[in-house]
Amino acid sequence: MSSAPDIDALFQAAASARERAYAPYSGYQVGAALADESGRVFAGCNVENAAYPVGTCAEAGAIAAMVAGGGRRIAAILVLADGPELVTPCGACRQRIREFGTDRTPVHLADPGGVKRSLALGELLPLAFGPDSLAGAGG
Ligand code: THU
Repeated sequence: MSSAPDIDALFQAAASARERAYAPYSGYQVGAALADESGRVFAGCNVENAAYPVGTCAEAGAIAAMVAGGGRRIAAILVLADGPELVTPCGACRQRIREFGTDRTPVHLADPGGVKRSLALGELLPLAFGPDSLAGAGG
């Protein structure tokens, strides 16, 4: 049984997570929230590290929380930050979202004032290599 993702619930969850972001190096705090196949909401924030490449994105945290909680599909995801340009998932996170979503998965981009743009994941990551690409592969 899946239920329609509530964008306001995603926004509130992302905003709460973003308040706890650990971003002392970039100063760029990000929150992400997703709804899984059951409508459950999971959130994450970016967690930076003195060894810069070790830092993790907000989307990665939300996805890890979903998987640990038993969710396996992303019904919709929202990313929230505050900067000179509207936040958009980095390339690696587009691929992370694709693992549990489809070309049609809604991706909502928000700033503290609310959702400013909504796209389908396929617009952000066209011709994606995903789980289906390996279906039936040998080895
Ligand atoms: N960041 C995210 O958490 N998600 C995004 O979609 C874009 C970038 C983080 C990574 C890093 O901690 C900071 O934002 C600046 O790149």
